[in-house]
Amino acid sequence: MKINRRDFFRLGAGATAATVLAPYHFALADDGFLEIRAVKAAQSLYPDSPTSTLWTYNGTAPGPEIRVKQGERVRVRFINELEEPSSIHWHGIRIDNAMDGVPGLTQEAVKPGERFEYDFVAPDAGTYWYHAHNKSWSQVGRGLYGPLIVEEPYPTFDAEHDMTLVIDDWLLNQNGQFDEGSMGMMMDWSHGGRLGNWITVNGISHPELTLKAGEAYRLRLINVCNARTLELDPNRFDAKILAFDGQPLPEPIAMPYEPYLLSSAQRVDLLVIPKQGQDFALEELSGNSPFPFLTFRVTGTGTGTGPAMVPKLTPNPLAEPDLAQATVHPLLITGGAMGRFDGITYQGKPLGRASMMQSRQFWAFNGVANLPEQQFFTAKRGETVIIEMVNDTAWPHAMHVHGHHFRIEEREGSTIDEGRPWKDTFLIGPSQTTKIAFVADNPGKWLLHCHMLEHAAAGMTTWFEVV
Ligand code: C2O
Ligand code: CU
Repeated sequence: MKINRRDFFRLGAGATAATVLAPYHFALADDGFLEIRAVKAAQSLYPDSPTSTLWTYNGTAPGPEIRVKQGERVRVRFINELEEPSSIHWHGIRIDNAMDGVPGLTQEAVKPGERFEYDFVAPDAGTYWYHAHNKSWSQVGRGLYGPLIVEEPYPTFDAEHDMTLVIDDWLLNQNGQFDEGSMGMMMDWSHGGRLGNWITVNGISHPELTLKAGEAYRLRLINVCNARTLELDPNRFDAKILAFDGQPLPEPIAMPYEPYLLSSAQRVDLLVIPKQGQDFALEELSGNSPFPFLTFRVTGTGTGTGPAMVPKLTPNPLAEPDLAQATVHPLLITGGAMGRFDGITYQGKPLGRASMMQSRQFWAFNGVANLPEQQFFTAKRGETVIIEMVNDTAWPHAMHVHGHHFRIEEREGSTIDEGRPWKDTFLIGPSQTTKIAFVADNPGKWLLHCHMLEHAAAGMTTWFEVV
């Protein structure tokens, strides 16, 4: 296991508007544990603006890039130096349940001044991330996240051609500082979640990266925004998709539609072969005009030697769902602004207007708001589970299953068709129905929640058990 300082920060090198980040304060302890401290730190989020106080892992947001080889152990000593309990969740890793980092379900939250040792094996190669899982809407929103890259055991893209791009949107005030006062606004919880007004990549404002013409690059995009679905168009620079949520596709595919929607918590690995003299940018397309937030300068005159030189990624060993033998669990999503509120209960009592405001619960799964005592379902280990989600709200949601990747088997009400990819987070639009399937092969208690973090806090969280 290594901390990948050089690669991760190379991004800063060519950037015109880049902020120089503080060095890491990390240590690989004698016993092989990587120490990750949750600590407040000052960071500038906007060019030439005063710093903001963020909550960080080891002094920067994002925290250190952790790199391991597939099948290798990840050992992290988490030390909480904040004034609030916290925990680390390893997003997308099919992990030992005790290491999943969910307070109240898999561990006690780590109190201020205390520590917790995470020790697990990373079974799948690919692009993952880690983040706080206590009051995530606040803790992740303030900067407690970092990339976790699991390398293939065979040679693929070398360090120069493998780039991790952690994308966050921040809500900045007039001074270009993190707008702390607007955290937790009821409006965000009942509508589309907290949306920022400024984008950083690896904590840097509008960086530039230099790529060589004709060479194949792997860009690992990680959306760590609280709630923003990034609208991107990789077709503008002829990028192909290598992997969704860490899991490689059998072959790289071109995006059949635009814009490509990358929801909170999703990752996409893009294959890019820059053309001579054709600089390009990653742009966010949801506004009136495209907002470029990462520029690529293309140097050199190389033309490449065609697809043969593109490294191939081998699919990870995931158990194939057996649809004929599956157990089906319907999940109805209701609530939210302009939505249905009838028949929602919270902590065993009906949720009325007043209690809704007071408890800040606005959404429900099958009529229940927020992490019920009773699990959504119990599956026998090895059983195929189909979850049929119906989004009866006026909002899209980024649904995430812990501990398992699933296949998208069927979508209704959407024109998007990506085949049946493996994912750990998927977007479901208003009035859409989506069937996902997976083999419940990982024993323990697992969360299922919306990864728009305000929605998760405001009711969109449940759990299931594999026994
Ligand atoms: Cu990244 Cu429970 O989530
Ligand atoms: Cu949601």
